[in-house]
Amino acid sequence: MESIVAPDCAMNAGLATAPGYAYDYPVNVHLDRRSRRLRATPAIRQLVQEIDLAPRQLIAPLFVREGGGPPVEIGSMPGVVRYSVADLVNECRQLAELGIPAVALFPVTDPAEKDPIGREALNPDCLVLRAVRAIKSAVPGLLVFTDLALDPYTTHGHDGLLTSDGTDVDNDATVEVLAQMAILHGRTGSDFVAPSDMMDGRVGAIRRTLDAADLSNVGILAYSAKFASAYYGPFREAVGSASAAGTRSLDKRTYQLNPSNRREAIQDALLDEAEGADILMVKPAGAYLDILSELRRATRLPLAAYQVSGEYAQIHAAARLGWLDYRKTRDESLIAIRRAGADMILTYFAKEIADELRT
Ligand code: PBG
Repeated sequence: MESIVAPDCAMNAGLATAPGYAYDYPVNVHLDRRSRRLRATPAIRQLVQEIDLAPRQLIAPLFVREGGGPPVEIGSMPGVVRYSVADLVNECRQLAELGIPAVALFPVTDPAEKDPIGREALNPDCLVLRAVRAIKSAVPGLLVFTDLALDPYTTHGHDGLLTSDGTDVDNDATVEVLAQMAILHGRTGSDFVAPSDMMDGRVGAIRRTLDAADLSNVGILAYSAKFASAYYGPFREAVGSASAAGTRSLDKRTYQLNPSNRREAIQDALLDEAEGADILMVKPAGAYLDILSELRRATRLPLAAYQVSGEYAQIHAAARLGWLDYRKTRDESLIAIRRAGADMILTYFAKEIADELRT
């Protein structure tokens, strides 16, 4: 291809006369490709935008507590509250109107209801199941996802039953309880159960147990690549598992993934797929975009990402200090998660994003 370089082209002339510059050699700039043409105006930028963020891709995580009265704030998660069941239903109505298709529920169990084996998890009238009933009767079209794990119910704050010497979580005994929880949740109206415990074999056991109980319509969103992360701190404050355990940084490294391990994360996620998961999830999201992107290529299942409490908290904290622009940082964090390959995002920003996109 012939390239014609005009020695007196406007750009060269401009450079040569730029104030303060003196060149010893003539510089000839002629480009066959100019990327900036596609960035020149808002209209062309819109036309070539590859990824976007829409309410239909968002799942709102919501905290529910016992009793009535106004919503209770969570110190480390500005704008996120613990709702009474009645207020939760109200919130769900608004989310559905904003075009958000799903919510994920997290119960704040009264400390008096907690014990070392999390008995409350199998109470058919426990808080989260009362919430599911109330939401499904008031807003039937809204999908309800409920977590399967014991940490909201145990005094030690671990996601499962402890071994008899108390030094580890007992995998198989925990899986049995999770499968029983799945039946209760499915019968009560959860559309998807979401095992967040990282026990081995739980997706397969839950699938088979649901099917045997005539609940084959209930789906499984598997927390497939869930890392042992410091970003869960504010969540543990929100659900009270931190105060039960006496720490926000409970060590879950015998079941949650090592943040260093990419291959192991993909392997675990593919096991969940083989065991019958409908949707795979990566959690946290922002610090694990490489995992999302690799998993996107390794599976054809829909992918979810959980932008967790600490990711939310750090954006708020920096914005409060005036160090980052709140909206721009928030939007960039979410678009990055979409770009890495997430079809859907669990995010505490869900409602405000949906609200802003509408206007
Ligand atoms: C536990 C669970 C956790 C989150 C959701 N389910 C935290 C943990 O492993 O202790 C964290 C969510 C968040 O940080 O927003 N089953």
